[in-house]
Amino acid sequence: MSFLELVTNRYSVRKYDCRPVPAEVLARILEAARLAPSACNTQPWRFFVVTNAAARAALFPHERQAWISAAPVVLVACSYPAHAWKRAYDGKNHADVDLAIAMEHLVLAATEAGLGTCWICAFDPAVFRQVLTLPPDMEPVAATPLGYSLDTPRPKHRKPLAEIVTYLP
Ligand SMILES: Cc1cc2nc3c(=O)[nH]c(=O)nc-3n(C[C@H](O)[C@H](O)[C@H](O)COP(=O)(O)O)c2cc1C
Repeated sequence: MSFLELVTNRYSVRKYDCRPVPAEVLARILEAARLAPSACNTQPWRFFVVTNAAARAALFPHERQAWISAAPVVLVACSYPAHAWKRAYDGKNHADVDLAIAMEHLVLAATEAGLGTCWICAFDPAVFRQVLTLPPDMEPVAATPLGYSLDTPRPKHRKPLAEIVTYLP
């Protein structure tokens, strides 16, 4: 599969089979996150692998998000903002940028392995903090269910290139 085919094939999977994810496949996906670049190579992240059914459900207590904890694995990407690079000019902290890159590495590695994912940021950080026993300096940034898809790919609706790209003369 070419890279463009891979990113075209990826879609947000919102229905999962309960079939477990083999440990070696999970390890390969996490390795893709580990290899992600980060500003000044600070790697200000930690990834939580949640397979315990009660813990998965505790992360997403509302019925409308039960499809997330139905996946055999929930991955949670957390940052250490205090360890991340800050731009000298304006102090902008790049922890979220770093986390997003690592998370998308993970998502695309999962796609290549035939697994479904869905970026999730609509969660209660206080609940995540409590369930994962996060230290105060760690921030939950994003999560994804991980598992075999029972969903159907939908057509991608994206703005045309002409609307999102500016070529400077
Ligand atoms: C930062 C981010 C946060 C997202 N949060 C959620 C979420 O909380 N719940 C959800 O169902 N989808 C979430 N999504 C998925 C988007 O809705 C989805 O990527 C977008 O509609 C495009 O569809 P596609 O992923 O199938 O191409 C999120 C995506 C991103 C990139």
